[in-house]
Amino acid sequence: PLPTDLASLADHERHARAALDPAAWSYLCGAAGDGLTERNNRAAWESIALRPRVLAPLAGLNTRTTLLGRSMAWPLLVAPVAFQQLAHRDGELGIAMAAAAQEAGMVLSTQAGVAMEAVAEAVREDAGRGPLWFQLYWQADRGIVEGLVRRAEACGFEALVLTVDSPVRAGFRLPAGLATPNLPPSSGDADFDTLCATAPTWAELEWLCGRTRLPVVVKGVLHHADAREAVARGAAAVIVSNHGGRTLDGAVATATVLPGVVEAVGGRAPVLVDGGLRRGADILKALALGAQAVLVGRPAVWGLAHSGAIGVAHALRLLRDELQMAMALCGCADLARVRAEPPVFSPNQ
Ligand code: FNR
Repeated sequence: PLPTDLASLADHERHARAALDPAAWSYLCGAAGDGLTERNNRAAWESIALRPRVLAPLAGLNTRTTLLGRSMAWPLLVAPVAFQQLAHRDGELGIAMAAAAQEAGMVLSTQAGVAMEAVAEAVREDAGRGPLWFQLYWQADRGIVEGLVRRAEACGFEALVLTVDSPVRAGFRLPAGLATPNLPPSSGDADFDTLCATAPTWAELEWLCGRTRLPVVVKGVLHHADAREAVARGAAAVIVSNHGGRTLDGAVATATVLPGVVEAVGGRAPVLVDGGLRRGADILKALALGAQAVLVGRPAVWGLAHSGAIGVAHALRLLRDELQMAMALCGCADLARVRAEPPVFSPNQ
Protein backbone atom coordinates (compact mmCIF):
# COMPACT_ATOMS: atom_id res chain seq x y z
CA PRO A 1 0.00 0.00 0.00
CA LEU A 2 1.00 3.59 -0.59
CA PRO A 3 2.68 5.23 2.44
CA THR A 4 0.39 7.78 4.06
CA ASP A 5 3.00 10.50 4.52
CA LEU A 6 3.77 11.45 0.92
CA ALA A 7 3.38 15.22 0.87
CA SER A 8 6.33 16.05 -1.40
CA LEU A 9 8.88 14.39 -3.66
CA ALA A 10 11.32 14.50 -0.75
CA ASP A 11 8.99 12.06 1.05
CA HIS A 12 9.04 9.83 -2.03
CA GLU A 13 12.83 9.93 -2.01
CA ARG A 14 12.99 8.92 1.65
CA HIS A 15 10.64 5.98 1.16
CA ALA A 16 12.50 4.87 -1.96
CA ARG A 17 15.79 4.84 -0.14
CA ALA A 18 14.31 2.68 2.60
CA ALA A 19 12.80 0.27 0.07
CA LEU A 20 15.86 -0.29 -2.14
CA ASP A 21 18.95 -2.32 -1.40
CA PRO A 22 22.10 -0.17 -1.39
CA ALA A 23 23.39 -1.34 -4.78
CA ALA A 24 20.11 -0.54 -6.53
CA TRP A 25 19.86 2.80 -4.73
CA SER A 26 23.34 3.77 -5.75
CA TYR A 27 22.76 2.96 -9.43
CA LEU A 28 19.27 4.44 -9.65
CA CYS A 29 19.75 7.57 -7.61
CA GLY A 30 23.49 8.17 -7.75
CA ALA A 31 25.43 10.86 -9.58
CA ALA A 32 28.83 11.07 -11.24
CA GLY A 33 31.96 12.15 -9.38
CA ASP A 34 31.30 14.27 -6.32
CA GLY A 35 27.69 14.99 -7.19
CA LEU A 36 28.41 18.65 -7.95
CA THR A 37 26.22 18.87 -11.00
CA GLU A 38 23.37 16.95 -9.43
CA ARG A 39 23.31 19.34 -6.45
CA ASN A 40 23.74 22.39 -8.67
CA ASN A 41 20.81 21.36 -10.85
CA ARG A 42 18.53 21.54 -7.84
CA ALA A 43 20.15 24.65 -6.39
CA ALA A 44 19.80 26.51 -9.69
CA TRP A 45 16.01 26.00 -9.74
CA GLU A 46 15.83 26.94 -6.07
CA SER A 47 17.74 30.17 -6.69
CA ILE A 48 15.24 31.48 -9.25
CA ALA A 49 12.59 33.65 -7.61
CA LEU A 50 9.00 33.74 -8.77
CA ARG A 51 7.30 37.10 -8.98
CA PRO A 52 3.52 36.81 -8.69
CA ARG A 53 0.96 39.05 -10.34
CA VAL A 54 -2.20 39.70 -8.33
CA LEU A 55 -5.92 39.97 -9.02
CA ALA A 56 -5.55 38.32 -12.41
CA PRO A 57 -8.54 36.21 -13.52
CA LEU A 58 -7.96 32.54 -12.76
CA ALA A 59 -11.23 30.97 -13.90
CA GLY A 60 -10.65 27.92 -16.06
CA LEU A 61 -7.02 27.60 -15.00
CA ASN A 62 -5.35 24.89 -17.04
CA THR A 63 -1.90 23.51 -17.82
CA ARG A 64 -2.60 22.37 -21.38
CA THR A 65 0.09 22.82 -23.99
CA THR A 66 1.26 21.47 -27.32
CA LEU A 67 4.45 19.63 -28.07
CA LEU A 68 5.60 18.66 -31.57
CA GLY A 69 2.16 19.30 -32.92
CA ARG A 70 0.22 17.34 -30.37
CA SER A 71 -1.79 18.50 -27.40
CA MET A 72 -0.96 17.40 -23.86
CA ALA A 73 -2.73 18.03 -20.54
CA TRP A 74 0.40 19.27 -18.80
CA PRO A 75 3.97 19.75 -19.97
CA LEU A 76 5.82 16.86 -18.33
CA LEU A 77 7.40 13.64 -19.56
CA VAL A 78 9.10 10.96 -17.54
CA ALA A 79 12.75 11.00 -18.65
CA PRO A 80 14.39 7.87 -20.07
CA VAL A 81 15.79 5.81 -17.21
CA ALA A 82 17.53 2.51 -17.84
CA PHE A 83 16.75 -0.75 -16.02
CA GLN A 84 13.60 0.35 -14.20
CA GLN A 85 12.99 -3.16 -12.93
CA LEU A 86 15.89 -2.57 -10.57
CA ALA A 87 13.52 -0.28 -8.68
CA HIS A 88 10.42 -2.49 -8.76
CA ARG A 89 9.07 -5.43 -10.73
CA ASP A 90 6.48 -3.07 -12.33
CA GLY A 91 9.46 -1.47 -14.11
CA GLU A 92 8.92 0.28 -17.43
CA LEU A 93 5.36 -0.96 -17.78
CA GLY A 94 4.52 0.54 -14.39
CA ILE A 95 6.02 3.88 -15.33
CA ALA A 96 4.27 3.89 -18.70
CA MET A 97 0.87 3.16 -17.15
CA ALA A 98 1.33 5.67 -14.34
CA ALA A 99 2.41 8.37 -16.79
CA ALA A 100 -0.60 7.60 -18.97
CA ALA A 101 -2.95 7.72 -15.97
CA GLN A 102 -1.58 11.14 -15.07
CA GLU A 103 -1.66 12.32 -18.69
CA ALA A 104 2.11 12.79 -18.69
CA GLY A 105 4.46 11.70 -21.44
CA MET A 106 7.10 8.99 -21.24
CA VAL A 107 10.46 8.42 -22.88
CA LEU A 108 11.51 4.76 -22.95
CA SER A 109 15.25 4.10 -22.64
CA THR A 110 17.25 2.03 -25.14
CA GLN A 111 18.35 0.18 -22.03
CA ALA A 112 14.83 -0.68 -20.94
CA GLY A 113 14.27 -4.04 -19.32
CA VAL A 114 11.24 -4.82 -21.51
CA ALA A 115 10.67 -4.82 -25.23
CA MET A 116 9.50 -1.50 -26.60
CA GLU A 117 6.50 -3.18 -28.25
CA ALA A 118 5.18 -4.28 -24.84
CA VAL A 119 5.37 -0.74 -23.48
CA ALA A 120 3.62 0.74 -26.50
CA GLU A 121 0.94 -1.93 -26.27
CA ALA A 122 0.32 -1.25 -22.57
CA VAL A 123 -0.76 2.34 -23.22
CA ARG A 124 -2.10 2.04 -26.75
CA GLU A 125 -5.76 2.43 -25.80
CA ASP A 126 -5.12 5.35 -23.46
CA ALA A 127 -6.45 8.37 -25.35
CA GLY A 128 -5.59 10.88 -22.63
CA ARG A 129 -1.94 9.95 -22.24
CA GLY A 130 0.95 12.23 -23.12
CA PRO A 131 3.51 11.55 -25.84
CA LEU A 132 5.39 8.25 -25.97
CA TRP A 133 8.96 8.70 -27.19
CA PHE A 134 11.83 6.23 -27.65
CA GLN A 135 15.33 7.17 -26.47
CA LEU A 136 18.18 6.05 -28.64
CA TYR A 137 21.77 5.50 -27.65
CA TRP A 138 23.84 5.51 -30.80
CA GLN A 139 25.21 2.06 -31.64
CA ALA A 140 28.47 1.44 -33.49
CA ASP A 141 26.54 -0.74 -35.94
CA ARG A 142 24.12 1.43 -37.93
CA GLY A 143 22.09 -1.66 -38.72
CA ILE A 144 21.21 -1.93 -35.04
CA VAL A 145 20.17 1.73 -34.95
CA GLU A 146 18.09 1.25 -38.05
CA GLY A 147 16.41 -1.80 -36.54
CA LEU A 148 15.49 0.13 -33.38
CA VAL A 149 14.13 3.00 -35.46
CA ARG A 150 11.94 0.73 -37.59
CA ARG A 151 10.55 -1.03 -34.52
CA ALA A 152 9.82 2.26 -32.73
CA GLU A 153 8.03 3.58 -35.83
CA ALA A 154 6.04 0.40 -36.26
CA CYS A 155 4.77 0.09 -32.70
CA GLY A 156 3.62 3.67 -32.29
CA PHE A 157 6.36 5.74 -30.68
CA GLU A 158 5.89 9.39 -31.59
CA ALA A 159 9.49 10.67 -31.55
CA LEU A 160 13.08 9.46 -31.24
CA VAL A 161 15.27 11.00 -28.56
CA LEU A 162 18.96 10.81 -29.43
CA THR A 163 20.99 11.14 -26.24
CA VAL A 164 24.25 12.90 -27.04
CA ASP A 165 25.77 13.75 -23.66
CA SER A 166 27.34 10.38 -22.94
CA PRO A 167 29.60 9.42 -25.88
CA VAL A 168 31.52 7.54 -23.20
CA ARG A 169 29.71 6.30 -20.13
CA ALA A 170 30.58 7.15 -16.55
CA GLY A 171 31.31 3.91 -14.75
CA PHE A 172 28.10 3.01 -12.99
CA ARG A 173 28.41 -0.55 -11.77
CA LEU A 174 25.33 -2.47 -12.75
CA PRO A 175 23.92 -5.22 -10.59
CA ALA A 176 24.20 -8.59 -12.31
CA GLY A 177 21.47 -10.19 -14.37
CA LEU A 178 20.05 -7.14 -16.14
CA ALA A 179 18.83 -7.73 -19.65
CA THR A 180 18.29 -5.22 -22.46
CA PRO A 181 15.80 -6.96 -24.74
CA ASN A 182 15.75 -4.09 -27.22
CA LEU A 183 19.44 -4.53 -28.02
CA PRO A 184 21.16 -7.54 -29.53
CA PRO A 185 23.46 -9.31 -27.05
CA SER A 186 26.64 -8.34 -28.93
CA SER A 187 26.46 -4.63 -28.10
CA GLY A 188 28.06 -4.90 -24.68
CA ASP A 189 30.77 -2.83 -23.01
CA ALA A 190 33.62 -1.51 -25.11
CA ASP A 191 36.93 0.02 -24.08
CA PHE A 192 37.53 3.78 -24.01
CA ASP A 193 39.25 4.02 -27.40
CA THR A 194 36.50 2.06 -29.09
CA LEU A 195 33.84 4.22 -27.44
CA CYS A 196 35.54 7.38 -28.67
CA ALA A 197 35.98 5.99 -32.17
CA THR A 198 32.33 5.05 -32.47
CA ALA A 199 30.75 8.03 -30.68
CA PRO A 200 28.14 9.78 -32.82
CA THR A 201 28.87 13.13 -34.48
CA TRP A 202 26.76 15.71 -36.32
CA ALA A 203 26.90 13.45 -39.37
CA GLU A 204 25.15 10.66 -37.46
CA LEU A 205 22.44 13.07 -36.33
CA GLU A 206 21.80 14.10 -39.94
CA TRP A 207 21.79 10.47 -41.03
CA LEU A 208 19.22 9.62 -38.36
CA CYS A 209 16.99 12.57 -39.25
CA GLY A 210 17.03 11.48 -42.87
CA ARG A 211 16.29 7.88 -41.98
CA THR A 212 13.03 8.21 -40.06
CA ARG A 213 9.64 9.77 -40.46
CA LEU A 214 9.58 10.47 -36.71
CA PRO A 215 10.76 13.77 -35.26
CA VAL A 216 14.26 13.48 -33.76
CA VAL A 217 14.81 15.15 -30.38
CA VAL A 218 18.41 15.79 -29.29
CA LYS A 219 18.89 15.21 -25.56
CA GLY A 220 21.87 16.45 -23.60
CA VAL A 221 22.63 19.91 -24.95
CA LEU A 222 24.14 22.59 -22.68
CA HIS A 223 25.63 25.02 -25.20
CA HIS A 224 23.52 27.44 -27.23
CA ALA A 225 25.67 26.88 -30.32
CA ASP A 226 25.06 23.12 -30.15
CA ALA A 227 21.32 23.69 -29.78
CA ARG A 228 21.31 25.93 -32.84
CA GLU A 229 23.35 23.42 -34.85
CA ALA A 230 21.14 20.51 -33.82
CA VAL A 231 18.07 22.31 -35.13
CA ALA A 232 19.88 23.39 -38.29
CA ARG A 233 20.79 19.74 -38.97
CA GLY A 234 17.26 18.48 -38.57
CA ALA A 235 16.43 18.06 -34.89
CA ALA A 236 12.76 18.75 -34.19
CA ALA A 237 13.42 19.67 -30.54
CA VAL A 238 16.28 19.86 -28.07
CA ILE A 239 16.45 18.84 -24.44
CA VAL A 240 18.72 20.91 -22.24
CA SER A 241 20.14 18.21 -19.98
CA ASN A 242 23.29 17.12 -18.18
CA HIS A 243 21.91 13.61 -17.65
CA GLY A 244 20.89 14.49 -14.11
CA GLY A 245 24.55 14.95 -13.17
CA ARG A 246 25.41 11.37 -14.12
CA THR A 247 27.93 12.05 -16.90
CA LEU A 248 30.32 15.02 -16.58
CA ASP A 249 30.48 16.08 -12.96
CA GLY A 250 31.10 19.81 -12.89
CA ALA A 251 28.87 20.46 -15.90
CA VAL A 252 26.79 23.61 -15.57
CA ALA A 253 23.27 23.43 -14.13
CA THR A 254 20.51 23.18 -16.72
CA ALA A 255 18.49 26.11 -15.33
CA THR A 256 21.54 28.33 -15.79
CA VAL A 257 21.89 27.71 -19.52
CA LEU A 258 18.23 27.30 -20.45
CA PRO A 259 17.52 30.98 -21.25
CA GLY A 260 20.52 31.23 -23.60
CA VAL A 261 19.53 28.06 -25.43
CA VAL A 262 15.94 29.27 -25.81
CA GLU A 263 17.19 32.54 -27.24
CA ALA A 264 19.58 30.85 -29.67
CA VAL A 265 16.95 28.44 -30.97
CA GLY A 266 14.66 31.40 -31.41
CA GLY A 267 11.36 29.55 -31.70
CA ARG A 268 12.51 27.28 -34.56
CA ALA A 269 12.01 24.23 -32.33
CA PRO A 270 10.72 23.56 -28.84
CA VAL A 271 13.29 23.48 -26.05
CA LEU A 272 12.78 21.05 -23.16
CA VAL A 273 14.78 20.78 -19.96
CA ASP A 274 15.51 18.26 -17.22
CA GLY A 275 17.68 17.88 -14.14
CA GLY A 276 16.77 18.54 -10.54
CA LEU A 277 13.14 19.59 -11.01
CA ARG A 278 11.50 18.57 -7.74
CA ARG A 279 8.58 20.96 -7.27
CA GLY A 280 5.72 22.23 -9.38
CA ALA A 281 7.20 25.68 -8.85
CA ASP A 282 10.43 24.45 -10.49
CA ILE A 283 8.38 23.42 -13.53
CA LEU A 284 6.77 26.85 -13.63
CA LYS A 285 10.21 28.46 -13.49
CA ALA A 286 11.39 26.29 -16.41
CA LEU A 287 8.35 27.24 -18.49
CA ALA A 288 8.81 30.90 -17.57
CA LEU A 289 12.41 30.68 -18.83
CA GLY A 290 11.11 29.42 -22.16
CA ALA A 291 10.97 25.63 -21.91
CA GLN A 292 8.04 24.08 -23.76
CA ALA A 293 8.01 21.07 -21.42
CA VAL A 294 10.13 19.40 -18.75
CA LEU A 295 11.26 15.89 -17.84
CA VAL A 296 11.90 14.25 -14.49
CA GLY A 297 14.04 11.15 -13.99
CA ARG A 298 14.69 10.20 -10.37
CA PRO A 299 11.31 11.34 -9.00
CA ALA A 300 9.53 8.68 -11.08
CA VAL A 301 12.07 6.09 -9.92
CA TRP A 302 11.38 6.99 -6.29
CA GLY A 303 7.65 6.42 -6.63
CA LEU A 304 8.30 3.17 -8.48
CA ALA A 305 10.78 1.94 -5.88
CA HIS A 306 8.50 2.16 -2.87
CA SER A 307 5.09 1.42 -4.39
CA GLY A 308 5.35 0.40 -8.05
CA ALA A 309 3.10 2.05 -10.63
CA ILE A 310 0.81 3.59 -8.02
CA GLY A 311 3.77 5.33 -6.41
CA VAL A 312 4.80 6.82 -9.76
CA ALA A 313 1.26 8.06 -10.35
CA HIS A 314 1.27 9.68 -6.92
CA ALA A 315 4.61 11.42 -7.51
CA LEU A 316 3.43 12.76 -10.88
CA ARG A 317 0.12 13.89 -9.37
CA LEU A 318 2.00 15.86 -6.70
CA LEU A 319 4.00 17.70 -9.34
CA ARG A 320 0.90 18.39 -11.38
CA ASP A 321 -1.05 19.76 -8.41
CA GLU A 322 1.93 21.85 -7.33
CA LEU A 323 2.30 23.29 -10.84
CA GLN A 324 -1.37 24.31 -10.89
CA MET A 325 -1.10 25.86 -7.45
CA ALA A 326 2.05 27.79 -8.39
CA MET A 327 0.38 29.07 -11.56
CA ALA A 328 -2.65 30.26 -9.57
CA LEU A 329 -0.49 31.98 -6.99
CA CYS A 330 1.48 33.70 -9.77
CA GLY A 331 -1.67 34.94 -11.48
CA CYS A 332 -1.30 32.71 -14.53
CA ALA A 333 -4.49 31.02 -15.75
CA ASP A 334 -2.71 29.23 -18.57
CA LEU A 335 0.72 28.61 -20.05
CA ALA A 336 0.23 31.25 -22.74
CA ARG A 337 0.20 33.80 -19.94
CA VAL A 338 3.34 32.23 -18.40
CA ARG A 339 5.11 32.70 -21.73
CA ALA A 340 3.76 36.17 -22.42
CA GLU A 341 4.58 37.50 -18.98
CA PRO A 342 7.07 35.15 -17.31
CA PRO A 343 6.47 35.31 -13.55
CA VAL A 344 10.16 35.18 -12.63
CA PHE A 345 12.11 37.95 -11.01
CA SER A 346 14.79 39.65 -12.99
CA PRO A 347 16.44 42.81 -11.65
CA ASN A 348 15.87 44.92 -14.76
CA GLN A 349 12.10 44.52 -14.85
C1 FNR B 1 19.13 8.20 -16.45
N1 FNR B 1 19.18 9.02 -17.58
C2 FNR B 1 19.18 8.43 -18.83
N2 FNR B 1 19.12 9.21 -19.95
C3 FNR B 1 19.06 8.65 -21.18
O1 FNR B 1 19.00 9.38 -22.17
N3 FNR B 1 19.06 7.29 -21.31
C4 FNR B 1 19.11 6.45 -20.25
O2 FNR B 1 19.08 5.24 -20.40
C5 FNR B 1 19.21 7.03 -18.96
N4 FNR B 1 19.30 6.23 -17.85
C6 FNR B 1 19.22 6.80 -16.60
C7 FNR B 1 19.19 5.98 -15.49
C8 FNR B 1 19.01 6.51 -14.23
C9 FNR B 1 18.93 5.60 -13.05
C10 FNR B 1 18.88 7.92 -14.07
C11 FNR B 1 18.65 8.54 -12.72
C12 FNR B 1 18.95 8.75 -15.17
C13 FNR B 1 19.08 10.49 -17.45
C14 FNR B 1 17.63 10.94 -17.41
O3 FNR B 1 17.00 10.73 -18.64
C15 FNR B 1 17.47 12.43 -17.07
O4 FNR B 1 18.25 13.21 -17.95
C16 FNR B 1 17.85 12.78 -15.65
O5 FNR B 1 17.50 11.74 -14.76
C17 FNR B 1 17.15 14.07 -15.22
O6 FNR B 1 17.52 14.48 -13.97
P1 FNR B 1 16.68 14.16 -12.60
O7 FNR B 1 15.25 14.51 -12.87
O8 FNR B 1 16.89 12.71 -12.31
O9 FNR B 1 17.35 15.05 -11.64
